[in-house]
Order: sequence, then structure tokens, then C-alpha cells
Amino acid sequence: MKKLLVTLLILAMAVSIVACGGKTPTNEPTQQPSEQPSNSAEPTQNTSGGIDIGIVLPTKDEPRWIQDETRFTEALRQTDYKVEVLFSQGDSAKEKQNVEALIAKGIKVLIICPHDGAAAAAAAEAAKKEGVTVIAYDRLITGTDAVDYYVTFDSVAVGKAQGQYLIDKATGKGNPLYLYAGAASDNNAFLFFEGAWSVLQPKIADGTFVIKNSSEAVALQDKATLTRDEMSKIIGQVTTNWDFNEAKNKAEAHLTSAKKEDKGNVFILAPNDGTARSIADTFAADKDVTSYVVTGQDAEKASVQYIIDGKQSMTVFKDVRTLVNDAINMAVTVLKGNTPETTGSYDNGATQVKAKQTEVIVVDQSNVKAALIDSGYYPASDFTGLN
Ligand code: GAL
Repeated sequence: MKKLLVTLLILAMAVSIVACGGKTPTNEPTQQPSEQPSNSAEPTQNTSGGIDIGIVLPTKDEPRWIQDETRFTEALRQTDYKVEVLFSQGDSAKEKQNVEALIAKGIKVLIICPHDGAAAAAAAEAAKKEGVTVIAYDRLITGTDAVDYYVTFDSVAVGKAQGQYLIDKATGKGNPLYLYAGAASDNNAFLFFEGAWSVLQPKIADGTFVIKNSSEAVALQDKATLTRDEMSKIIGQVTTNWDFNEAKNKAEAHLTSAKKEDKGNVFILAPNDGTARSIADTFAADKDVTSYVVTGQDAEKASVQYIIDGKQSMTVFKDVRTLVNDAINMAVTVLKGNTPETTGSYDNGATQVKAKQTEVIVVDQSNVKAALIDSGYYPASDFTGLN
């Protein structure tokens, strides 16, 4: 039985390599023959030769989105619908071209995670005009009523979990706090920051933390709730743009201008894993930094290893399998002419977008094995030093 499974697996891998022509360039479509996802009834076979569901993801440069692609590929093996995945490589023009290419192939449903939430409105509108149902995936598309649905994690909870982790690790007063954020073009960056600020601000106000790297945040530190414009000012100063190098350069600049007493045992709000690793490495290399607590997000493999090794303190695990299944089930429901189930709605500045939201899990050294390996999310063999 085991042997048969292994043979089947090897065969499946060989087929998928052939399908990709042995390479996966940026915009190479990943096509999947399909069948319906687990909780839907009979599949509707596509006989037109066209594509039923188009999926557009923001970039291959951030491991998070490779995780999503992998999980889509796994989930779509079970469907009978024709699906194509395209990457936009951090370029809104490319993203729009991708959407247009998918429309030309006859998609009925577009699942899109925008590079830039506002700029993607044009792509969503182009799809909507052709009668395509638009599902925003993970990141909301803003300023348009052309978005039908939104599948997402609870992003405010992500930020809260990051902030709370720093609070739980801090003792005494005057702890140096360094704030970093995601890209201002990503609506989630605001939600993460909003969540983190909601728990950190009282601890800044009571002197537990002292902000060391943002004059805008210091100017607003007495405000429990920030407006979007106020958050923009802070994010403008401490954005990483979701970019490892930008994160590293910013951290280096902050440490260069910081005095010795601004270092010691430091607390760092890093918005996601990629930036957490480069910020952590930068702080670790500073001789005046005695210890650091740094947050993360996405449970990227490299960060799981950092957590095991004690180089990153925590991550927020977003089980991409759930998000992928929600998105596919939503698409299949639409393809069958039914109305998908939603759990709430998000204001995108133009309309209330009906949304399905998923919870997140905090992972650190204490539960990394249980949450990510024993749960079957990653194989233990991908890591070293696990007990
Ligand atoms: C966010 C996403 C995060 C993280 C980040 C960087 O929008 O929700 O999980 O991946 O982008 O790509």
C-alpha cells in the first residue's frame, strides 16, 4: 500500500513537472484539471476548453505566496474545474494584464490577492464588467464596488497577537520598542498595525515601552485609537514594504542612530516572517543589543527554523489550507449558481464587501512542534533541532 502511494506520488510529481515544462517562471500559468472540493456536491465539468477559475497572486518573492500557490495546487487536485494561477510580481500593471488574460480565457470567477489594494480596483472592475465574480483573497481590494467577496484571516487579531506577545515578554518599565510595518499599499498592513497598536498603546502610555524609531508614533503615543491618516504617518516612517532588504536597511539605520541606552533588551514589532528574520539578524549583530524579542507572521519554513533555533521569538500561523479551501469552495458555489456563505463584511471605502474570516494561531518555541509539525502542516524532516 505504502509502495503504491509512493509510486503514485512520484507519478503525480512527474506529471506536474511536465505540465510546467520543467520550469516555473514568474508568469507561467499553473493549470489544474479539477474536481469539486471536499464539501461541494457534483462537479460541473468544463467542456468549453476555457478556464473556470482564475487565481492571481501578488509575488513569488515573498515565501508566503509560494505557500498559497502550493496549497492551491494541492486543493485543486480534487476539483473538476479548470484553473490557472498567475503571479503579478509586485506590479499592478502586470496584475491587470494577468486578469485580462484570464478574462480572455473565459473565467467565471477571479480569486485575486492584490499587490496594491487600491490599484487593483481597475482589474476588479474589468473582470466585473465581463460578468466575472471577484473574490479578494487575503488582501482587500479597496475603493470599488466591483469586489463580490473577501476571504481572509482575522488581520486585526494578527496585530493584536504580535503586540500581546511583546507585552507578555516585557518586565519593568522603559523597555526599548522598535516598530515596523508592512507596505502602505496593502490594506492588511493597516489592520495589523491597528491590532498591534490597540494593545501596545496602553503599555507605551504606562511607560512599559518606549518607542525608539518613529517620531510620528511618539507624537501619537497618547492616542488609543488612530485614524487611517495617523497610521499612514507612522507606517510611512517604519514601513518595510514587505521587503527583506528594506527591512534590513531600516533596522540598520535605526540602530546606527540609536544611543547605547536605546538598545539593551529590545522589543521589536516586525510585521511578517521575512522582515522579522532580516530585522532579527540586524539586531543580533549589534553589540549593544543584549537580547531581543521579535514578532513575525506566516509560519514560513525559514522562520519556523529561526524559532526552533531561538533567533525569532514567535510567528502568527495562518493556516493557508483553510483560506485556500474557503476561496475554492466559494468559487465552486458561485459556479454552481448558488450564493456563498459569509461570516461578516469589510468596508473597502466604496462598499461593504461580504467576507469569510479565519482565525490565526500564535506559535513560538513552546508549541512549534504541536502546531506546525504534529498537525501535518510541515514535515519534521524540513527542520533541524526539533525535540
Ligand atoms: C499580507 C499578508 C501576510 C504577509 C504579507 C507579506 O498582506 O496577509 O500574510 O504575507 O502580506 O506578503
